[in-house]
This record gives sequence, C-alpha cells and structure tokens, in this order.
Amino acid sequence: MPSSLFRKKRIESILAESGDREHGGGLKRVLTVRDLTFFGIAAIIGAGSFSSLGDAVFKGGPGVVILFIITGIACGFTALCYSEFASRIPVAGSAYTYSYASFGELFAWIIGWALIMEYSIGNIYVAFSWSDYFTSFLEKLNVHLPDYLTCSYLEAKGAVSRLTDLTDSAERAEFLGKKANVELLNAWNSANIVGGLRVIFDLPALFINLLITYLVYRGIKESRNFSNVMVILKLAVVLLVILVGGAMIFSNGLTHNWTPADTEGVRSFMPNGFSGVMAAVAGVFFAYIGFDAVSVLAEESKNPQRDLPRGMILSLVICTTVYILLTLVLTGAVAYSKFENVGDPLAFIFEAGNLDIPWMQFLVAICAVIAMTSVLLVFQMGQPRIWMSMSRDGLLPPIFQKIHARFKTPSFATIVTGLVVGIPILFTDKSFVLDFTSIATLFAFVLVCGGVLLIPRKEKIPGRFHLPYFNGKFIYPAIILGTMLLIGLTVDNYYTDLFNFDYSGDPDYVAGKVSFLDVATPQISVILFWVICLVLAISTFIKNFSLIPLMGVTTCLYLLTGMTKSNWAWFLGWLGLGLIIYFLYGYKKSKLATTVSN
Ligand code: ALA
Repeated sequence: MPSSLFRKKRIESILAESGDREHGGGLKRVLTVRDLTFFGIAAIIGAGSFSSLGDAVFKGGPGVVILFIITGIACGFTALCYSEFASRIPVAGSAYTYSYASFGELFAWIIGWALIMEYSIGNIYVAFSWSDYFTSFLEKLNVHLPDYLTCSYLEAKGAVSRLTDLTDSAERAEFLGKKANVELLNAWNSANIVGGLRVIFDLPALFINLLITYLVYRGIKESRNFSNVMVILKLAVVLLVILVGGAMIFSNGLTHNWTPADTEGVRSFMPNGFSGVMAAVAGVFFAYIGFDAVSVLAEESKNPQRDLPRGMILSLVICTTVYILLTLVLTGAVAYSKFENVGDPLAFIFEAGNLDIPWMQFLVAICAVIAMTSVLLVFQMGQPRIWMSMSRDGLLPPIFQKIHARFKTPSFATIVTGLVVGIPILFTDKSFVLDFTSIATLFAFVLVCGGVLLIPRKEKIPGRFHLPYFNGKFIYPAIILGTMLLIGLTVDNYYTDLFNFDYSGDPDYVAGKVSFLDVATPQISVILFWVICLVLAISTFIKNFSLIPLMGVTTCLYLLTGMTKSNWAWFLGWLGLGLIIYFLYGYKKSKLATTVSN
C-alpha cells in the first residue's frame, strides 16, 4: 500500500538502516546501564521538581503525593512499553521510530510532531525555571535585575487581572502578601512602554537558550563523566533539601501543615479535594518527562536490548521516591497555600519567614541552575536527532540531516530548535507551555503503549528485555468493572454528579467569565475515559490483549482527564497544523512513497 496513510516501515529495514550508519562511521556504542540510568535522571530531575512542584502543591496541597504515585505508575507501565520497543528496534528516534513500525506513517508523523512539544516546548518551561533560580541566586549576591526583565509578559498581565478580579479585601491582602505576586505587579508597573506595549520579557531565559543552542551547535559532548557529576550533584542537593527540610518539620513542630484546613475548615490531606489534586496533573507529569529520552540513546548503548529497559526503570524508581519525599517536605515546611506563583519552591522554603536557612537557599539556587542546564542540554540535543530521523525518512526536508563540516553537528536542525525554544519565550508564559508539553507527551505515551498492543508477540531471547505477557482477557475487564463499582459504592453520587451538567452554582459560569465547555471539560473527559475503558475491556475479552500495555494506555488516558479545555484546544490546533504540513510535504516526499514508485 505505497500511498496508504498507514504504510509501515519494516523493523528489519529500520535495523538495517541503522547498521549501515554504524558501519559508515555512525555513533559509538559505549554506554552502560549505569550511564543510561544517570542519563535518565539527568533528563528527569529538573524544572518539574525544582519549579513546577510549587504550583502543583498550591493547587492540590499535600495530597499531590497521591498524584505522584499514580503518575509514577503510569510512567512505569509506559517505560516497560518503551523498553519492549527499544529491545526490538534499538535505534535512535524514540517513539517516532516505534510508531512507524507499528501504526504506520501517519501516526509516526503525529508522534514526531507531538514530540516537538516534549523536547522543544518543554525546554521553554525549563528555561523559565532556570531563570527563576538564576535570579534568586543573583539576589543572594545582591545583584537585582529589574522585575520586568525576569518574568514573562503574560505572567505579569495575569497577576494584574487576578488582582482586579479580587473584590474581597482579605483576599486582596492575601494576594499582595505574596512576594512573587508583588514582583509580577511591579514588573507591570515599572516596565518601559514602547509603541503602546509594555516591554516585559524573561532575559535570563533567553540568555540560557542562546548559550545552550551555541554549545549544542559547537558540538558540546555532555561527556559521561560531566553528566554523571551533574546527576550526583543534583541528587545530593535534593537529598539535602529532604534531610534538612524534613528535620526542621519535626523539630519546629510543623507536621500540622500536612493536614491544612479546607474551605469549610475541615483539616484534610487534600484541602481542595481530589479535583484540586488532579488540577496539578500537568506539573506533576512534567516532572516525569525524560525517562523516555533514554531510548534516544539506543544507537550509543553497548547492549541496548538489555540495558535500555533497566536504565529507564531504575531512573524512574529513583525519581518517584525523590518526588514523594520532596513533596512531603515542601508541604510540611510551608503551608501549601503560600506556593502561589512561586517558581523556585525548593529555595523558597528556606527563605526568611519560612524555614529561614540562607545558606540552604543559596546552595539550592546554584545547584538548581546547574541541574536545569543539564536538562536543557539533554532535550536540546535530542530534538535535532528526532528531526534527523524524520528527515532520513523523507518526512522533513533533507536540510534537517545537514551535518556541519567542522563541528559534525546537525547544524540546521540545532538552530531551528534554538528558534523554536527561543521565540516563544517572548510570547508565552510558564503555565501555558507546561500544559502544552504535558498533554502532547501524554498523548505520545498513549500511542506508544497502544503500539505495543498491536505488534505481534515475539519469542523470548535470553539476555534481551522481554515484556512479560499477562493475558488481560479476564483481569482487565475485572479491574475496570471492579474500579467502577468501587467508586460508585464509596464516593457519594459519583455517577449522578458525573452526568449532571448543571453549573448554576458556579459563580464564574453564571457571571459569563467561563464558557460551558470550560467548566464541563473535566466531566466530559472522565465520561470519555470510562467509555474508552469499557471498549478496551470488551476488545481485550475478545482479543486477549496484553495486560501491561493495556494498563499503560489506561493510566495515561486517566492523566489526560486532568487537562482543561484550553489545553485540548491548543493541542488539537497543533495536531491540525501538523497534519496540514504532512499532507503538503511528507505524504508525497516520504521515502516509502518514493521508493515504491521508483
Ligand atoms: N522532567 C524534566 C524536568 O522536570 C523535563 O525538567
């Protein structure tokens, strides 16, 4: 089917192409399981733990720990699916290459397109977070950049409109009592106005993107030793935060912070309910992104079939443990409600007025800057490699494969990556890019797990990773029906509330500030989720699907129910744009199309 949208690449031909490159002076196979685990941690621990954790605990309170566990499990299932693919197709290109072999070209393109979100747009968030800590570090050295050069235009504007919306004087006072909010308001009020527009942008974020692009262009090799030192430093400082913060919680008698009062004054681990916890899903999920980047190193691993899965899963287990402890320390050390707009939460808990340990604040800020630099490097080096794979397949113009004569780097793809990260720094804000990255990456994960369901089972080969097959025939329907029943029995009016779309009690909806779809999206998503689960349960009963990828699809779909209407709208718009580009270019130029027609 040469002209089919679902034309697939054969696994044998993917492996042969990669072998050709290897013999033609391709990448050296040097990485061991330890290197891969360290690389995984280098990619995972970054802005998610150092930055988005603040907003996540503000939304969900200490109960966000539960979301970290759910997300850790979802990523664990996904890592097993990535591992299965990586053991069958040990070449660079990640989820993009895998889906080319299982779903066919159209889906491969969609994944490649979605991965731009993970690799490039995600780096915008990391750059913003880098800037937060860098600014905090400079302040410790008594260097103060003007507020209008350390935040994004949208963030400052958002703070002004939130203050305008607050009519209650106590609420206004609380809002103005937070340093982060005051800085944003000050940025708005003190900014220069050019052509009627306030000049507000995040200068350090732009600077770090420029520096990283330059280093990647010049061919910086994040050498194994350098990378390993970074990871050890990162883990050491996080561990120190856990130990010092944890000790202070008990010695200062702050454990009551773990059960703050909700709006009715009742003390609870989840002060904003489970919906508050789910509202934090983008931030929590972002913290896990990166374990999949390990698979990009397939062509550089000594024994990819065995070591890639081990590296991914080990790094995931370590990071999940770290996140749970870190969340408990943050929410114990400082009341969760104080984390609004706090971009450097790990340093914030040591500020005066909180735990008040200046040397920790300083140490955390400097280590965070280093840690996030390593995340930026991992993703900024990964993106051009994915584009190179897509270009080799004819889905992107050949210039994306262009290698710099002197530096031996994919020079054009690297510069485009720098622009894709750099330009939006001027026009977006942190929460927008966070949501956008998380929804697209989750979507890619769903397709990877779904892909494993579709590829034929293989014989077990000693020494290679083999995804255990558990027949889901009875177990999966039992899990779905059992969970539905349990929720129905334990949560009052769960199903009545789910199908009741009456929002007359919602003041924002009544005032016309939000549309019906804005408020109804979470409910519609949950209904769709259950419908898909039931369809999967019936299909599994008939087709004996494998349980692990099924659970991967299910848990990732569940996390997607936490996304808002605007996340979906932007994401679907992005996919639409991708499809237009595919039909205008890749569909005709694809190697699969041209090879057959020649
Ligand atoms: N998980 C990576 C980070 O938190 C993307 O920075």
